Amino acid sequence: MHINTSRFAGKTAVVTGAASGIGAAIALRLISEGARVAGIDVAEDALKEMATQHDGAFFAAPADVTKESEVAAAVAAAAAEFGGIDIAFNVAGASRVGPIVDLDEADWDFTIDLVQKGVFLCTKHEARHIKEHGRGGAIVNVASLNAHIPMPYGSPYSTGKAGVEMFSKVAAVELSSSGIRVNSVLPGLVDTPLVAPVMAYEPARDMFLSRIPIARAATPEEIAGPCLYLASDDASYVTGTSLVVDGGWEVSNYPDLTTLGS
Ligand SMILES: NC(=O)c1ccc[n+]([C@@H]2O[C@H](COP(=O)([O-])OP(=O)(O)OC[C@H]3O[C@@H](n4cnc5c(N)ncnc54)[C@H](O)[C@@H]3O)[C@@H](O)[C@H]2O)c1
Repeated sequence: MHINTSRFAGKTAVVTGAASGIGAAIALRLISEGARVAGIDVAEDALKEMATQHDGAFFAAPADVTKESEVAAAVAAAAAEFGGIDIAFNVAGASRVGPIVDLDEADWDFTIDLVQKGVFLCTKHEARHIKEHGRGGAIVNVASLNAHIPMPYGSPYSTGKAGVEMFSKVAAVELSSSGIRVNSVLPGLVDTPLVAPVMAYEPARDMFLSRIPIARAATPEEIAGPCLYLASDDASYVTGTSLVVDGGWEVSNYPDLTTLGS
């Protein structure tokens, strides 16, 4: 997709999970629309490569989003580099799976720390910096359709993502007096390294696709577009909501009685 607008000209953004998949697509789309982007990720080499490719427009701020001292330092470095932060996208995520009766405490903690606490810590420090310049801004948190649709063996992921959706609503109410809008995006199946094992195993992929009316996975760019909309001036009256971007998956769970004939 060729995008050529200056919608975000002069804006500065923080994107977590910027080294891969949806986060990388958001970062690249922002740059193509005029923003300067600070990418936060644990994948330091990939961030440095992006900084080399987009000299001046991309700032590498390596950090683990589950560690407050690292998040605080990375967001402060981004604000210092750009002279402030206008918008932020909290995207970093992964999960460990297993049946509830066998799931280790460490696997529960890993997933909840990453998908839920990470979004809290990043929102906290991003909002502090956005508040500083007094011009307001926007934060977009990437949750998952699993906030609405339970994933068997994915109890910490589904629970954590439901928490991200509610956290974003609380943050929207708390931060509205500072002119900061907060929304979440709930993607369905997106073709990224995170779901490569599913996409590579045909029987599993076909089971997913049979539930999706659009009958394919989204590209990362198809999630980046709705995320950028929520951060743009077109969404100036949108806060505290969540946008499901799932090819119709959530609304497709009704028997197709027309196949019975008359
Ligand atoms: N791919 C999908 O089908 C799908 C569906 C719904 C929601 N999501 C969500 O979208 C987000 C992005 O996923 P993706 O599919 O692009 O995956 P991805 O694996 O391509 O990218 C995730 C990025 O997060 C980074 N990361 C992981 N742990 C981190 C940490 N502790 N600190 C900083 N960075 C860390 C990784 O290094 C990676 O660059 C995740 O929150 C995921 O849960 C993905």
